[in-house]
Amino acid sequence: MFGRRTSDPSAPKPKPSAPAQPAAEAPEAAPAAPAAAASASAAPAPKAPPEPPPPPPPSQPPSSGNARQRSEEYYDVKTSVFNALIDTIDLTQLAKLDAAAARDEIRDIVSEIIQIKNVVMSIAEQEELLEDICNDVLGYGPLEPLLARDDIADIMVNGADTTYIEVAGKMQTTGVRFSDNQQLMNICQRIVSQVGRRVDESSPICDARLPDGSRVNVIAPPLAIDGPALTIRKFKKDRLTLDQLVKFGSITAQAEDILQIIGRVRCNVLISGGTGSGKTTLLNCLTGCVDHEERIITCEDSAELQLQQPHVVRLETRPPNLEGEGEITMRDLVKNCLRMRPERIIVGEVRGPEAFDLLQAMNTGHDGSMGTLHANTPREALSRLESMIMMGGYSLPIKTIREMICGSIDIIVQASRLRDGSRKITHITEVLGMEEDTVTLQNLVVFEITGDDDSGRVLGRHRSTGIARPRFWDRALYYNEEGRLAEALSASEVLDEHGNPLGESNG
Ligand SMILES: Nc1ncnc2c1ncn2[C@@H]1O[C@H](COP(=O)(O)OP(=O)(O)OP(=O)(O)O)[C@@H](O)[C@H]1O
Ligand SMILES: [Mg+2]
Repeated sequence: MFGRRTSDPSAPKPKPSAPAQPAAEAPEAAPAAPAAAASASAAPAPKAPPEPPPPPPPSQPPSSGNARQRSEEYYDVKTSVFNALIDTIDLTQLAKLDAAAARDEIRDIVSEIIQIKNVVMSIAEQEELLEDICNDVLGYGPLEPLLARDDIADIMVNGADTTYIEVAGKMQTTGVRFSDNQQLMNICQRIVSQVGRRVDESSPICDARLPDGSRVNVIAPPLAIDGPALTIRKFKKDRLTLDQLVKFGSITAQAEDILQIIGRVRCNVLISGGTGSGKTTLLNCLTGCVDHEERIITCEDSAELQLQQPHVVRLETRPPNLEGEGEITMRDLVKNCLRMRPERIIVGEVRGPEAFDLLQAMNTGHDGSMGTLHANTPREALSRLESMIMMGGYSLPIKTIREMICGSIDIIVQASRLRDGSRKITHITEVLGMEEDTVTLQNLVVFEITGDDDSGRVLGRHRSTGIARPRFWDRALYYNEEGRLAEALSASEVLDEHGNPLGESNG
């Protein structure tokens, strides 16, 4: 067979052929399979590790078995079959096959090994083992079944023995485990080497992206004390839309209208929220309201946005190389953007001195620009912006910074993940202006929590604060959206038991 070693098994193993990956990371990109085998066997094989084939896109069917707890016996059998496979197969040849053919090849050989070794297992168990071994050799090992599921938002691996996932806003433990930290490290290495990066003791922090667009962070020992920590924000193949957010109860249909108008009439928007609260999702949804004629430039640390418009330029930052050179920061990108004749600038996450450049861009004819920022309330978002600008080394008086913020940001949309795991848009807030030294904000729509139901779900309602003429009214007029805006605002109003509007609560 093609992938099988043709030479005498006792003869020296073939040297790896020219690696498919860039030469710089090849020596470090220890393939998962041989290293896992070596770490599992008593005496590590003294062979040069051949290069494994590149992992296939993570689209293998989920193996339900991987998600459940397995016995030690299973892992012993797997290790022994795995070692025999590595001794039999020529990984260099295997690398030349496409993913499906390589998988078939491995399945054939593993089936034979199981027969020769007289391993007693049911057909279902054998299928599971076959799938598991294929995943180890060709893909991301025990992670494969999780990567294949589209209902998972995050995968969090805390060392070889513990993996959590987030499903429907809730954290869950899984039965997924790796043979040992070395196997986990090899998989991390394999993931990051695809984007030309390396993760090891000397460079223990790394961001990367899976071929499907999922965002990956790895932090390795000695910084991660209990073994490598791998975090994956799964890329949603079907991006969420505003309509779906309405279906999920994250916003009301009226608030959806208001957001659509805000996007369409070119308000400058800041989306604020905690980690994983849905900021990027919301930004993606808002960009859906942008006209197809506009030229949009996106700047991100890890490209996550999925804009549907035809005229989009996507930019991504770059971390420094191993010598500490070549870094391209968000600020570099935003500054460069301004020389690219953008109509709108979209910044995936504002977290440093680029805040100043983004505000300037918003102020100077790039209306309709947007960005996200980590903060828990719209008010806090403003102070975060202030501190980012101050930390950028601009010796501007605080009042000037605030005036700049008022002159640039029109709307702050606040996203939150509530204690029951649900994600809500809790505020649509306008930046009104300055009163003496303070920036004044005006909520248009707020989410009010009214209690919990028996199953622990948070109950609440979105309501308009009764503002009939928001500050961006003139813009809405200009784009002929004033009728829709007035309707959406009044329809979201909630009246008290006497039929009077509920009092406004500003943040
Ligand atoms: N309103 C929503 N309802 C249900 N799921 C949502 C909602 N908004 C976002 N999600 C899901 O939550 C996860 C996190 O969303 P997202 O990446 O937008 O968060 P984020 O705030 O940008 O996170 P980070 O701070 O890590 O950048 C994704 O899987 C996304 O599909
Ligand atoms: Mg995000």
